[in-house]
Amino acid sequence: MNNDIAKNSAGRIITIVLLFSIGYAILRYHIVGAVPWKDFPFFILNKGISLSAFILLTLNFGLGPLNNLGAKVPEGWLNARKALGMTGFLLVLIHALMSFMLFSPSVYGKFFETDGTLTMLAGLSMLGGVLAFVVLWGYNLSFQTHLREDKAFIQFITSRTFLLWAMLLGAAHLFFMGYEGWLNPSGWHGGIPLVSVVAFACCAVCYVILLFGRE
Ligand code: HEM
Repeated sequence: MNNDIAKNSAGRIITIVLLFSIGYAILRYHIVGAVPWKDFPFFILNKGISLSAFILLTLNFGLGPLNNLGAKVPEGWLNARKALGMTGFLLVLIHALMSFMLFSPSVYGKFFETDGTLTMLAGLSMLGGVLAFVVLWGYNLSFQTHLREDKAFIQFITSRTFLLWAMLLGAAHLFFMGYEGWLNPSGWHGGIPLVSVVAFACCAVCYVILLFGRE
């Protein structure tokens, strides 16, 4: 029994990812950047949460294929995949709810035209985010034991094609939101990349691992 618990590293991985992501957002926006601390509990925490979600989901998608490619992924990490995926999805849900509440021109000026409508890039980014959310919701159903008996559904929802599309939608959410800022590193506070750059880099690495490491 104790052995089984020792072989699942989910708790440790989730704690480290949350500490890293929230710490990164604090460093990037409060310590090196000029965002006031009063914005920590919602605006900045939302960034930390969305980054944690992204990293946990890429670990869930990528650890198995990475192992197939010959990297010796520890057993505790492989056993942690289900918990990482479910936690990642719950964090995405929190991120979506927080983003809905924050979504206004005074918070996200760059997403809006002067007449208060969405810019084209913000529209594309939010479309990617909403579609990625729905796709992840479907993926999360594959963890429900009563659906595991539906073999065709499980095969489709965990197939390489499905996962690659889920990653592309997440990448589109980040790309349209951030690429103008990514192209201007001189504008990064203290030279520290934006949260969206870190998430996009994780996504790109995971995409390649999935492409080559999963049948
Ligand atoms: C209903 C769906 C979603 C909505 C409405 C939404 C909304 C937003 C908004 C408004 C931002 C800008 C945050 C900021 O700059 O402070 C954002 C950023 C972000 N979102 Fe989403 N999102 C959704 C789904 C997703 C999904 C499925 C993921 C993938 C796990 C995700 C990951 C991220 C990441 C990593 C950022 C970057 C944060 C940053 O650069 O500051 N989002 N999202």
